[in-house]
Amino acid sequence: AATRSSASPVTVTVTGAAGNIGYALLCRIASGQLLGPDVPVRLNLLEIPDAVRAAEGTAMELADSAFPLLDSVTVTDRAERAFDGAGVALLVGARPRGKGMERADLLEANGRIFGPQGRAINDHAADDIRVLVVGNPANTNALIASAHAPDVPAERFTAMTRLDHNRAVSQLAAHTGAAVRDIEGITIWGNHSATQFPDLTHATVTVDGSSRPALELVERAWVDEEFIPRVAKRGAEIIEVRGASSAASAASAAIDHVYDWVNGTQGRRTSAAIVSDGSYGVPEGLISSFPVVSEGGAWQIVPGLEPDESLLPGAGERLATTVAELESERDAVRSLGLLG
Ligand code: NAD
Ligand code: LMR
Repeated sequence: AATRSSASPVTVTVTGAAGNIGYALLCRIASGQLLGPDVPVRLNLLEIPDAVRAAEGTAMELADSAFPLLDSVTVTDRAERAFDGAGVALLVGARPRGKGMERADLLEANGRIFGPQGRAINDHAADDIRVLVVGNPANTNALIASAHAPDVPAERFTAMTRLDHNRAVSQLAAHTGAAVRDIEGITIWGNHSATQFPDLTHATVTVDGSSRPALELVERAWVDEEFIPRVAKRGAEIIEVRGASSAASAASAAIDHVYDWVNGTQGRRTSAAIVSDGSYGVPEGLISSFPVVSEGGAWQIVPGLEPDESLLPGAGERLATTVAELESERDAVRSLGLLG
């Protein structure tokens, strides 16, 4: 059996380490929540030159926390150094949107960050690198990074829709009076944007010990008029109420995504944006959110979960709309020359 000291350390690179999400993320990684309680971690923090000093301040706090699993912390503004030997890369560093903006408004400014980082991952990361893109627009930024890393299998570039998934679980639990742990089978489809489709057509809620279809427990109007828009626009709601984009919940979702990817989902479905193999009519190569499980250290798209039109008229159209948006973002960054 593994003991605390028997596992080899994993290098985890976090970009944008001095930012809000970075601050909410780093102690959790160092405490073992990202990879598990037996795995020592080497943290590499990448920042732009102006923010290196702030990242060094966070590194001092990491040291002061004396985490038994934290082997080292390196702060740098050089991507090749930051990704050297990386087994996990969390690409968080990017501008957040402000009030009234859509995430796609960040495409050009943030897109330019991800090509060079993809190339540095290609040239310097470990062979089994796993990449999670958090910086918005996350799906298309992941596509850009992957396009610059021809030697890394496309399956290893993913984008975060786990926050949307967690929001959907939480909204359904609150509305039905169930506990979060009693909700299963929600899927976030497509883009991490306002077009995303949080799909309840295969979701279940355990009530008094028996599993019930979610759509038998809620009103159709609630699904169309409350649930779907609330989840899809929750990022904007947080910006409006908090005055800044989500940070603690985003960090939490990033931890969930990577932990599940590495350690497996034990048969429970979740949502992640991964490269399409053509499943569900999503064009091959797009990075789109799907119903997934993780087995043997790899995400797999779960088949047979087409949005059920008979339970939710318009469900198929919602999937088509969010996928069309991903295609148009891909075309936009291609014409900006960002796909290399
Ligand atoms: P922030 O502005 O607080 O921090 C971003 C950090 O990134 C800054 O410290 C900045 O210096 C750094 N940075 C910028 N360019 C960089 C580069 N080229 N290399 C390394 N670091 C760089 O922002 P935040 O609140 O931490 O959010 C970060 C990103 O995550 C935003 O794009 C935000 O929209 C996105 N986000 C995504 C999700 C999701 O669910 N996918 C959720 C929340 C936030
Ligand atoms: C979120 O979903 O909270 C983030 O993507 C931030 C945003 O811009 O909405």
